[in-house]
Amino acid sequence: MNRLTHVDLATMTGLPEAFARAHIPGEALGTMEWRRLTPSERDGAILGAIRENERDDLASAGPEGIARWEKGWAEVAARVANDGASEDTLRPQYFRYEFMRLLGDYARPEARDLEYRIHKMLSELVFRTHLAGLESIVEFACGTGINLMRIGKIFPTIKLTGCDWAKPSQDILGRIATQHGINLAGKLVNLWTGEGADPAALRHGRTGILTVHGLEQIGAGWGPFLKIVEAMKPAIVVHIEPIVEMYDPNSLLDALAICYHKKRKYVDGFLTEIRAREAAGQAEIVATKRFNFGSSFQEAYTLVVWRPKA
Ligand SMILES: C[S@@+](CC[C@H](N)C(=O)[O-])C[C@H]1O[C@@H](n2cnc3c(N)ncnc32)[C@H](O)[C@@H]1O
Repeated sequence: MNRLTHVDLATMTGLPEAFARAHIPGEALGTMEWRRLTPSERDGAILGAIRENERDDLASAGPEGIARWEKGWAEVAARVANDGASEDTLRPQYFRYEFMRLLGDYARPEARDLEYRIHKMLSELVFRTHLAGLESIVEFACGTGINLMRIGKIFPTIKLTGCDWAKPSQDILGRIATQHGINLAGKLVNLWTGEGADPAALRHGRTGILTVHGLEQIGAGWGPFLKIVEAMKPAIVVHIEPIVEMYDPNSLLDALAICYHKKRKYVDGFLTEIRAREAAGQAEIVATKRFNFGSSFQEAYTLVVWRPKA
């Protein structure tokens, strides 16, 4: 049996171990147990991934997906209306896999919600590193607003805006703001079209832009998003997303993740575009980091940090 350590968090994020120790309490790691799979479990995980990729009913990202998101977030909005906005009630429903990908191979969580809890720790370290010193942050495809609630607690004076195309998301954000005294407002924005986004109104002083598992949802249709970003002239843009360009097609687990990524029509070509912009002097890439961490099927946790150049 293994237990997640500050050294693991530092290895995954590329940040100093002391930084991880300063911000992630040792007690929080105490129950984060996991183990490597036996050879037959590993075969089972690989077979499971192949079968998942063959499924006909696997939901893929696309403009027709809005009803699914509205339904999911309406469930969360009802939970929040009853029980208040908390880490528990805002938690999205989709963290539920039997295996994880951890430190370069499959792992079996031996503690409840391990993937979700690791995600939370890694995000906290990323937010503290890349979103410090801003006056406002806009998260696109913000969902239940759980990232914004956490950011509001880390940086209490910052102005936060959550954009999503699903209406129940806006109700949830309103409740987070009132209940937690966070300066947070919602805006209905459709990233397929850019509809609803007024870049000048979204920007407040030194502004950061964030996406977490949100850009993934717009496949190759990130053009309108990039236009909004350019017009907002942000100080920094931070993504925690599945980034297909970062996989190694010659690795078995990565090859399976690439199939899964394509099957679900996740974000395609975005990093390639940002790299091209950097080469043309139009953007600066501050960091790209694969956390070597994910669910049974993919790694939804690759960090890309960049800024457009004027
Ligand atoms: C996987 S969830 C991530 C939510 C949130 N960022 C988080 O980390 O919990 C994907 C989000 O993208 C939103 N989304 C999908 N397509 C979108 C679009 N075209 N425009 C705006 N939001 C979209 C969904 O409504 C959902 O809230």
